[in-house]
Amino acid sequence: MSVTQPKRYTITAALPYANGPLHLGHIAGAYLPADIYVRYLRLIGKDVAFIGGSDEHGVAITLRAKKEGISPQQIIDKYHYLNKETFEKFGISFDMYHRTSEKVHHETSQEFFTSLYNKGEFIEKQSEQFYDEEYDQFLADRYIVGTCPICKFENAYGDQCENCGSSLNPTDLINPKSTLSGKTPIIKETKHWYLPLDKYQPWLEEWLLKGKKGQWKSNVYGQCSAWLQAGLQPRAMTRDLDWGVDVPLPNTEGKKLYVWLDAPIGYISSTKQWAEDHNKDWELYWKKQPNEKDNSRLIHFIGKDNIVFHCIIFPSILHANGEYILPENVPANEFLNLEGKKISTSRNWAVWLHEYLEDFPGKQDILRYVLCSILPETKDSEFTWKDFQAKNNNELVAIYGNFINRTMVLTHKYFQGIVPEAGDFLEIDNDALDKIKTLAKQISEAIDNFRFREANALMMDLARTGNKYLADTEPWKVIKEDEERVKTILNVALQIATALSIISEPFLPFTSSKLREMLNIEAIAWQNATDHILLESGHQLNASALLFDKIEDDTVEQQIQKLLDARNEGAEEHKATPAKDEITFPDFEKIDIRVATILEAEKVKKSKKLLKLKVDTGIDQRTVLSGIAQYYKSEDIVGKQVCILVNLAPRKMMGTESQGMILMAEDHDGKLSFVRPEDAVKNGSQIS
Ligand code: MF3
Ligand code: ZN
Repeated sequence: MSVTQPKRYTITAALPYANGPLHLGHIAGAYLPADIYVRYLRLIGKDVAFIGGSDEHGVAITLRAKKEGISPQQIIDKYHYLNKETFEKFGISFDMYHRTSEKVHHETSQEFFTSLYNKGEFIEKQSEQFYDEEYDQFLADRYIVGTCPICKFENAYGDQCENCGSSLNPTDLINPKSTLSGKTPIIKETKHWYLPLDKYQPWLEEWLLKGKKGQWKSNVYGQCSAWLQAGLQPRAMTRDLDWGVDVPLPNTEGKKLYVWLDAPIGYISSTKQWAEDHNKDWELYWKKQPNEKDNSRLIHFIGKDNIVFHCIIFPSILHANGEYILPENVPANEFLNLEGKKISTSRNWAVWLHEYLEDFPGKQDILRYVLCSILPETKDSEFTWKDFQAKNNNELVAIYGNFINRTMVLTHKYFQGIVPEAGDFLEIDNDALDKIKTLAKQISEAIDNFRFREANALMMDLARTGNKYLADTEPWKVIKEDEERVKTILNVALQIATALSIISEPFLPFTSSKLREMLNIEAIAWQNATDHILLESGHQLNASALLFDKIEDDTVEQQIQKLLDARNEGAEEHKATPAKDEITFPDFEKIDIRVATILEAEKVKKSKKLLKLKVDTGIDQRTVLSGIAQYYKSEDIVGKQVCILVNLAPRKMMGTESQGMILMAEDHDGKLSFVRPEDAVKNGSQIS
């Protein structure tokens, strides 16, 4: 962190596509950390604009509309309002939740385009693009899928591989297919405007590689430097589409701005709308000020699939414009998995936030707490319902809730709910009070450095300190012989409770507000809560209520069942990948497949996937490596018949030569199973 402390912060969280509801992966990726950060900044008195909204353009929207059989406008209306409301209910405290279909956004992004155009920044280029003849349409971005040239993932989009995060051009894809017709596209000429990223490369190396080293998270910095190392290419900023922001140039009918040009500008138009509604000056939050120290600090919260767009492309656009500040930091998170699997919208393997809010009314903070404790800050992490239950029961109920409940109940019981006056402090009292300051400092430092998991754990440590303090001082026993001492103990406990009500606000805003209500206090600035004795003796508390309840086994079992049931429904919808290009019979005849018997099988050391098999092909006995270790155990497959491609060129893997390939059927979720003759046949029998 730099030493100067800015007053003003522009905090953005990725604009989710308004093409579906939000799931836990979205929340853990960007929105919860952003909200914690923002709430903390507000508590320490900063001027913050927390900006969000719906991304309503791009192929993601039109594809969804096609799937649901309604118009793009109906899709964005449906999901914009659903997501906006879901964020609100979950306590994600955006100052503005705008939408990119609004007029002010179309105008703002067109102005941006025009200003770059007038400066001569774009390269105008005629090029060959994929075209779907059946649908009469150019195939941009998500209209085209194929194999990622980098990680070999089979469902990479024309602009990005969601598996490895690489940003792609449609022509990079291996075996490209139209997602409209499923067919292999033809190639057709068209004109577009390109942003010369190669021209900005030296500047990016200076600003990003040199300037952000050691400051940006290593997952973010690493991805950016790999990109720069590979060398940047010009990137088209326009598309042949009928849904999006019109290109503001003559004779450009049927052309729209690239969604990754207009969407991040959505942060700016969203800020404009907020400023207009609240009588603020939006430029203070976005434009360079005459005096550099007055610049706002811009921070983008995103998931890892958005890194290149926020760290390379959007900064290049801002830089090319020249009037804008650049992101100070982009603390992107990795992915959250769910019950051992990747979250997948198409397979319906997800916990949907709006459903959680229905199933667990009033329990937003449990989910906030659990997600914060597992944020994928440095690597992918996992949500399970059992862990959700355990963290609620063992931490929120048993520590936080228990401490507050005992403190409140005892104060009501012994002193009619009036804060008792403290006598002389003993060492144990001073230690507990000191702990408030130390923990608050550590929490500030963790939040400043985007380590929210750690900050959340330290917050719980404060509750733990309080709980342990009561357990050690035992006021319920001491009351029998020394009421004066109990006054001091409960006074100290109440100071801890007060500090906790403030310190936990960024993490548990609903609980914090209930607790302040019970303590009968207003919101207090962070420093006041942590550096001073707060509750005066004689202050009247309100009635006490339980903050958290136990979650029973039934409840989480139902949730797990719900996931499994939903997944099955989803699976039926799964579409097979389109057929490959046509081949002739002589092509087919080149393939020699035989029936063989597995003689031996063993795991290949250091490989999760590979089994080393010895098979009898009828022609010979040979060694074959097969990537089936996650699905079959060696001892279960010896003696079984399989089919093997015997004339495949040998290939060396993990130090062993594989002589052929065992045929497997691959289910849509990647599960493999053997293909074999229905009845036993002689080894060497030909398959044709
Ligand atoms: N809609 C994009 C996604 O869901 C994120 C857009 S972020 C913005 O991946 F910067 F472009 F707004
Ligand atoms: Zn890839």
